Amino acid sequence: MGKDEAESPHVLIFPLPLQGPVNCMLKLAELLALNHLAVTFLNTDYIHNCLLKNTNIQSRFQNYPGFNFETVPDGLPEGHPRTGDKFIDIANGIEEVSKPLLKEMLTYGKLSFKSSKPVTCMIADGFFSFAVDVAKGAGIPLIYFDTISPCALWTFFCLPRLIELGEVPFKEEDYDRKVKGVLGCENFLRYRDLPSFFRTSDLNQRIVQLILQEVKEFPRSEGMILNTSEHIDGPIVSQLSTICPKTYSIGPLHVLHKSILLSAQKASSQDNSSNSLWEDDKSCMTWLDAQPQKSVIYVSIGSLAVMTIDQLMELWHGIVNSGKRFLWPQRPGSIAGKDGNDAIPAELSDATKERGCIVSWVFQEEVLAHPAIGLFLTHSGWNSTLEGLVEGVPMICWPYFVDQQVNSRFVQEVWRVGIDMKDTCDRVTIEKAVREIMEDKKDEFQSSASKMAELARQSVSDQSGSAHCSFNRLVEDIRVMTKSTPAHE
Ligand code: UDX
Repeated sequence: MGKDEAESPHVLIFPLPLQGPVNCMLKLAELLALNHLAVTFLNTDYIHNCLLKNTNIQSRFQNYPGFNFETVPDGLPEGHPRTGDKFIDIANGIEEVSKPLLKEMLTYGKLSFKSSKPVTCMIADGFFSFAVDVAKGAGIPLIYFDTISPCALWTFFCLPRLIELGEVPFKEEDYDRKVKGVLGCENFLRYRDLPSFFRTSDLNQRIVQLILQEVKEFPRSEGMILNTSEHIDGPIVSQLSTICPKTYSIGPLHVLHKSILLSAQKASSQDNSSNSLWEDDKSCMTWLDAQPQKSVIYVSIGSLAVMTIDQLMELWHGIVNSGKRFLWPQRPGSIAGKDGNDAIPAELSDATKERGCIVSWVFQEEVLAHPAIGLFLTHSGWNSTLEGLVEGVPMICWPYFVDQQVNSRFVQEVWRVGIDMKDTCDRVTIEKAVREIMEDKKDEFQSSASKMAELARQSVSDQSGSAHCSFNRLVEDIRVMTKSTPAHE
């Protein structure tokens, strides 16, 4: 092996095996590969098979000579639904089965310093608190990429203080009181806006302990990648920099990714390669083409959330009673106890065939960019929120779990581009919110959403934008770290 090759970085990327994180990490991986870094992308078998089945990742990434996929099992049985309500099974499977295999690969296996192409740096999801010790054991630096929202991540870091102040655990009667322990958010953050996992009476609960562990381990890493920019999240990024001085705000990553690929002529502006775990329905784009501008409500609860049949019916009636057109991907397995397209009674869906399009999964980035979309009824996942902000689409937020309770509050109170209807799900509230955004206060919402879109795009507006600078700094730092890892000394 030549000296240059031996000194070139080889980054191992290990995402949380869920749609949002995998999507983000694949985008980051492609950008690193474009910068001539060798990249090994570690997927769980389940995720990898979904990607192979539903995307062109194989042919897309073949274009990068130093790029490889590796896989490990996730420890879950084949038929496991891997939905949000079973999130702790996913976390346990990684800890018990994937982690030991990762450790073996990095310390004496095919990616270790004993191999022909050793890994010199690891980028792992912030949720993997074990990654610090695994990386240290292998003698390589670790950078965390926390793919949840920075505002929710900040509340995670405040959890020890919230416990100290006696603000967590809290009771349901406290939901509307303001929280004091999240610095910078005292004026608008209520108990009900804290991450779903904070709604517990038992601090020994495994998920709470995992968050406390994450908070403890984070500062031992070499840096933190965030999918945001100071234009979107300035005060929050400043707070997070006090925890981890090396932060790289490379967001909105999907826009940065597109912009770099376009300038490298690796994609056209029409390119629509998704990283979807389910098959994208293409027919909905033709349907959208036939709808008037800003007339359609796009309804989606993302890749993990599950709703009951009662909630589905309330959403359905609320939307239908508003009289608006709608596009609604209903992910297989997203309706508790229902397995397929029989959730909506035929007489209801037949009655709205003219103005409703129901499919199972869409390429959301493309849908949100379509001029026919006038409103996004969302579960407020961080990727969905960013995608909505960037396209200037006002939102109705119906958060499900993790960071979504915080994100929806920020949508309403900080970015002022939507209505947060957390903890309610009735047809009257939904119809009212739809009418407020699409009729009564249409201009107001449209104008603030357009302003926010402009702000959200500023970090990637040209090659000197802050997301480009942060990304270039990340690449440079990885190169410097590689030169000083033990294997290269
Ligand atoms: C949730 C979180 O809220 C998220 O912040 C966290 O990082 C992981 O858990 P999820 O339900 O996957 O994630 O939501 P979100 O972060 O919004 O990601 C969903 C992704 O799937 C988005 O990139 C969206 O574009 C895509 N999507 C969704 C589609 O492409 N098609 C669909 O039909 C629905």
